[in-house]
Amino acid sequence: MTTTLRLGIAGLGTVGVGVMRIVAAHADLLARRTGREIAVTAVSARERGRDRGIDLSAHAWEDDAVALARRDDVDIFVELIGGEDGVARAAVEAAIDAGKHVVTANKAMLAVHGHALAERAEAAGVALRFEAAVAGGIPCIKALSEGLAGNRIKRVMGVMNGTCNYILTRMEDAGLPYDTVFAEAHALGYLEADPQLDVGGIDAAHKLALLAALAYGTRVDFEGVAIEGIERVSIADIRHAADLGFRIKLLGVAQMTGRGLEARMAPCLVPAKSPLGQLQGATNMVVLDGDAVGQIVLRGAGAGEGPTASAVMADVADIARGTRMPVFGQPAGTLARPFRATAGTPSPYYLRMDLHDKPGALAKIAACLGEAGISIDRMRQYDHAETVAPVLIVTHKAARASLDEAIESMGRTGVLAGDPVALRIETLAV
Ligand SMILES: NC(=O)c1ccc[n+]([C@@H]2O[C@H](COP(=O)([O-])OP(=O)(O)OC[C@H]3O[C@@H](n4cnc5c(N)ncnc54)[C@H](OP(=O)(O)O)[C@@H]3O)[C@@H](O)[C@H]2O)c1
Repeated sequence: MTTTLRLGIAGLGTVGVGVMRIVAAHADLLARRTGREIAVTAVSARERGRDRGIDLSAHAWEDDAVALARRDDVDIFVELIGGEDGVARAAVEAAIDAGKHVVTANKAMLAVHGHALAERAEAAGVALRFEAAVAGGIPCIKALSEGLAGNRIKRVMGVMNGTCNYILTRMEDAGLPYDTVFAEAHALGYLEADPQLDVGGIDAAHKLALLAALAYGTRVDFEGVAIEGIERVSIADIRHAADLGFRIKLLGVAQMTGRGLEARMAPCLVPAKSPLGQLQGATNMVVLDGDAVGQIVLRGAGAGEGPTASAVMADVADIARGTRMPVFGQPAGTLARPFRATAGTPSPYYLRMDLHDKPGALAKIAACLGEAGISIDRMRQYDHAETVAPVLIVTHKAARASLDEAIESMGRTGVLAGDPVALRIETLAV
């Protein structure tokens, strides 16, 4: 057996502790599988004295993650601090510059600085791996970059934020409004320190941007993802969707179209009986379509100590075995500048609105849709209280831009009581 592979772990929170536990519990198994002993030599976190439920006495401690990244007795710097910039990025750059391999779970940093970091790592001849950054324990980076290397990728799709899926399924199961379930999720510690990262769709969009780069050989383009969060999804939407045979999911889709790369993360209606519709609680699903393989569906825990640490260790094991690969599946210098689609693929839309209960109100709404070239598939009016009438419209396929145009002109009719909610009905097969 060759020399021990030495890990420096920066960040001893949920994921860092999980990695420490796997290295300790599976030392023999990892050594047999990789042909090398794997050991943690040094660690770093903010508070040295904090009880983390693990014994740290055998490991050197660094207050400064950058100093940890530069230590001579560290071969792989494992960054589990988080955050787009700050110490996480500084330490990753320091590790690369010091010739260390890097493993990270930090999707925020990679979604924004992924290309620059990939160029830096490849120039330094070190690995930069990030299986844990997308969909936690689901090995979707490996599936895409290795398992499907012989395919032209037609589409990448998925539910990749467990917290949003938990909120949406809990609203449906318990019949509770968004605000109540949001507060519950907060109390349970399911939300990021900045909840907007979760419910605003940003965290899931970070992940989609990374998958799209791998799938299409483009530079990571987080800015190119059209993002909508779940904050405006109401219990009424969930019930109406169920009546129509759908469930609402925060769904990400990236596909190369004749108009360029289309990448969107938004709440959508998906058939209730489909695998995506059946996805409950915090579970994630990643769906990959390749021209040769057809469709692959990966489902599993998208977060949590064990699942995320499992993904970190997959990267560590690869480095231990000597597997070397460009960060985004092909050399960073060959990644194309993303060519963003100017318009999204048309789809049917679910449109819910409250109308002032006046004669001709519905006709005015229908006229706005007609003028924007949108035809109505179904329309329902629900029981109404006093002067406001809730109305639900399902459109035939329409471009989002035309729908927005129609909604804007509806606003000028004076019959709307509040802003309409427009949700895409995802017709892509899963
Ligand atoms: N949790 C998940 O399920 C999950 C899933 C996928 C990916 N990730 C990603 O994994 C990374 C870590 O997430 P986490 O949930 O483990 O976070 P966490 O529980 O909040 O832990 C963060 C750790 O970083 C340490 N830290 C903060 N600032 C530091 C600094 N300046 N120098 C050194 N250490 C510092 C903290 O130290 P103290 O403990 O002393 O405060 C803490 O141990 C993030 O990028 C996250 O997006 C997490």
